[in-house]
Amino acid sequence: MMMNRSWYLACLVFGSLVLVVHHVSSQESISISSGEPSYPCVYRGIPYLHSEVWRVDECTTCSCDNSSITCVIESCQPVFCVEPLKLPGGCCFICPYDVTVREVTPTIQVKHKTTNGHTTLFLAVEVKFRDAKDKTGVSGESLWELSAWIALVNISHSHTKIGFTEQVLNAGQASQWFIKGDQFIFRDVVYPFVAPASLMCDEAEVCVELRRGINAVTTDGRPFNFDTPFIGCTSLCTGRDLFPCPDKEGKHLHKDVWQQDPCTQCTCNNGTAECSTKECPGPGCNRPVRLEGECCLSCPYQSPDNSDLWITLVISTSVLVGVVIVALTIVCLRHRK
Ligand SMILES: *[C@@H]1O[C@H](CO)[C@@H](O)[C@H](O)[C@H]1NC(C)=O
Ligand SMILES: *[C@@H]1O[C@H](CO)[C@@H](O)[C@H](O)[C@H]1NC(C)=O
Ligand SMILES: *[C@@H]1O[C@H](CO)[C@@H](O)[C@H](O)[C@H]1NC(C)=O
Repeated sequence: MMMNRSWYLACLVFGSLVLVVHHVSSQESISISSGEPSYPCVYRGIPYLHSEVWRVDECTTCSCDNSSITCVIESCQPVFCVEPLKLPGGCCFICPYDVTVREVTPTIQVKHKTTNGHTTLFLAVEVKFRDAKDKTGVSGESLWELSAWIALVNISHSHTKIGFTEQVLNAGQASQWFIKGDQFIFRDVVYPFVAPASLMCDEAEVCVELRRGINAVTTDGRPFNFDTPFIGCTSLCTGRDLFPCPDKEGKHLHKDVWQQDPCTQCTCNNGTAECSTKECPGPGCNRPVRLEGECCLSCPYQSPDNSDLWITLVISTSVLVGVVIVALTIVCLRHRK
C-alpha cells in the first residue's frame, strides 16, 4: 500500500512536469496569432495587403497601413551638366561623374636605396581637378590607375621609361573617393624600381600618369567621364634619402617595426636596426611554462572560463533530467499494467 502511494506521487509529479512543458509551448502559439486585425487597401481598383509597399511611377511610392494609404513623392534637385541622364527605374535626372585633371604633382617623401640599383620610393601624389559647374566628384571602387616610371632628363633619352609600372596604387588608394572641391592626395604610394647603379639623381626624374581605372565601378553605376590622362614628374634628387636595414629574412625599410624573436622588437632607423628587449615580470606560480611565440613565462593552470562551466552544468543537468523522465515513464507504464 505504501509502495503504491509513493509511485502514485512520483507519477503525479512527472505528469505535472509534462503538463507545464505543454502549457509553455501552447502559450507561445497563442501569442503569435493574437492581436488586432489589420485591413487591406484598394488603390486605383487594385487591392494591396496591409504593410505592402508599391511603386506608382518612378517618383511615387505608396504603402498600405491598415486600410489607409500613404504616398511619398520624390523631389528632384536641379542638375547642371550638359547631358543629364536617368538611371533605369530612377526618378530624377542625374549627372554622370565627370572629372577633368588640371595638375598631377608627385612628391618624393622617402627614398630607400640599396647598393645594386634597387630603390623604393614613397610618393605623395596630389591631383588638382578642374572646378566647374558641370564637373563632379566621384565615388566607387577601382576608380584610378597611376603608372610610374623613371625618365632620363637628357633630351635625347627623354622617351626612355625605366622601371615602368602600370599600377602603383594599392586597392584602397585606387578606390579613393573624390569629393568636389576637396583636396585630393594619394599618400604613401610605394614605387619600387631598378635603375643603373651609376644613375645620378640629377639625370632622372620620377613620373606618374593618372588615368581612369579600367575596371572602375562607380556608386549606383553612373557613367564616369575622365578627360585625357595626365602626367606629372619630379626630380629624383628631391625627398629624403633613407636606407633600409639588412636582416636575415630580407630587408626592412626605414620605420619598419619587426619582431626579431619573442622578446626583441626592432625598428629600422635609416639603415640601423634599433632593438629593445622586453622585461618579464615574475610568473607568480611554482611551475611556469613558455607558450609558443610568447616572450614571458606564464602559469599553466588557469581557472576555466565561466561559460565552459555553465555548458558543463547545463549538459549534465539535461542528461540527469532525461534519465529520470525515462525511468519514471517506464515505471509508470509498468505500474498501470
Ligand atoms: C485597424 O483599424 C481598425 C478600425 O479602423 C481597428 O479596429 C484595428 O484595431 C486596427 N488594427 C491595428 C492593428 O491597428
Ligand atoms: C645625353 O646622353 C648622351 C648619351 O648618353 C650623352 O652623349 C650626352 O652628352 C647627354 N647630354 C646631356 C646634356 O647630358
Ligand atoms: C641616412 O643615412 C645616410 C648615410 O648613412 C645619410 O647620408 C643621410 O643623411 C641619412 N638621412 C637622414 C634623413 O638622416
